[in-house]
Amino acid sequence: MQRAYVEEIARYEGQEVRLAGWLTSRRSKGKLHFLIIRDGTGFIQATVFKGNVDEETFTRADHLRQETALEVWGRVKADSRAPGGYEIEVLGIRIISQPEEEYPITPKEHGIDFLMDHRHLWLRHRRPWAVMRIRDEIERASHDFFSERGFIRFDTPILTPNAVEGTTELFEVDLFDGQKAYLSQSGQLYAEAGALAYGRVYTFGPTFRAERSKTRRHLLEFWMVEPEAAFMEHEENMALQEAYVSYLVGRVLENRSRELELLQRDPAALEPAAAGQYPRLSYREAIELLSRLAESDESVEPIPYGEDFGAPHEAAISRQFDRPVFIEKYPASIKAFYMQPDDKDPSLVKNDDLLAPEGYGEIIGGSERIHEPGLLLKRIREHGLPEEVFDWYMDLRRYGTVPHSGFGLGLERTVAWIAGLSHVREAIPFPRMYTRMRP
Ligand code: 4AD
Ligand code: MG
Repeated sequence: MQRAYVEEIARYEGQEVRLAGWLTSRRSKGKLHFLIIRDGTGFIQATVFKGNVDEETFTRADHLRQETALEVWGRVKADSRAPGGYEIEVLGIRIISQPEEEYPITPKEHGIDFLMDHRHLWLRHRRPWAVMRIRDEIERASHDFFSERGFIRFDTPILTPNAVEGTTELFEVDLFDGQKAYLSQSGQLYAEAGALAYGRVYTFGPTFRAERSKTRRHLLEFWMVEPEAAFMEHEENMALQEAYVSYLVGRVLENRSRELELLQRDPAALEPAAAGQYPRLSYREAIELLSRLAESDESVEPIPYGEDFGAPHEAAISRQFDRPVFIEKYPASIKAFYMQPDDKDPSLVKNDDLLAPEGYGEIIGGSERIHEPGLLLKRIREHGLPEEVFDWYMDLRRYGTVPHSGFGLGLERTVAWIAGLSHVREAIPFPRMYTRMRP
């Protein structure tokens, strides 16, 4: 008999199949037991009718513990009442293993701390199931998008001698004989070496920030996608970001609609983001917008020109639009050392942040990089960075330097927005946070 997966069960309508999985829940009604079985690819109802199985199987089916591992075989039937549209009419059951004790996560409501403490088990349930499949779709869509555009994947180191995004958020690692290294905050500097070697590259890996933040958007360890391209300037960089993010949203709408539905995420809220045409504000315009919003809404706090936006400011701005919005050209004084000054006003840099709508805030940070060696060295000194550590990075400007740009998309923040989650901790299998390192 054919072994089938829930995900592709429609193909087997009317046929007999074997299905291996785990018991999620069960209920009984007279001569029927309804078993909900999950096999990793989905959830399905298996109906045990007294007349279809022997006495022992029927009695046993009523005493199975949640998370019993089992194999069932039977006929696949379309049934509009069944969750998912199909069910299995069971002809036999084989128990593979029985839980030693009652499974700790029961259908009753559990608090988030309890669920997070049991994350290794909670992952089996519907909500994390839907989120991880959306995450997977976004990961694969990222590879497809960049690969189709001639970017090659370029893996950058996690142990690094230098900071990228400021020195206050570095995790230090002891190497040998008193030598130290840091966990990478971003693969960007190495991706720049890659772009000057191979034209267009992207990294996709874990990055680390030692931030003592308890917000809904901060992880200590998160995944970032960082494309970098030689000869690409600021405008083209933003166009690439828009094409990429609209592609990601489109792919999820196309291939993960069931998961969105399960999460009660309205696809209509995502459709504008899939259509592109993202509005653009300059940093100055964003500051002005905040001031205007503050006049009619006292929960919005305006900030003076020259200060960086915090999460509440980004949320207020991003709630004004039905799709992601760009904020570009920040003052150089509040941005990283490597950003290229604006041609018209050198107090500004050619950078952008992309804010996701509905108050989600920043999901991308990007910029054109300084390509002129004298200016880069000056900035390294102004930022008090150790010159000798950046000597290799200076080489990229000494030999064949060209304008180049790139950006970093935070995977968990993107997943949280697209899946409609209220916290990034649910967007990654095992979140590492200021307040959580278990399990
Ligand atoms: O804006 P960031 O700091 O930019 C960079 O690291 C650049 N070097 C990227 C580049 O140009 N190659 O971080 C990029 C994105 C943010 O927009 C956000 O989505 C995510 O990374 N991010 C975090 N996500 C979760 N937890 C944190 N603590 C994050 N810090 C940044
Ligand atoms: Mg940023």
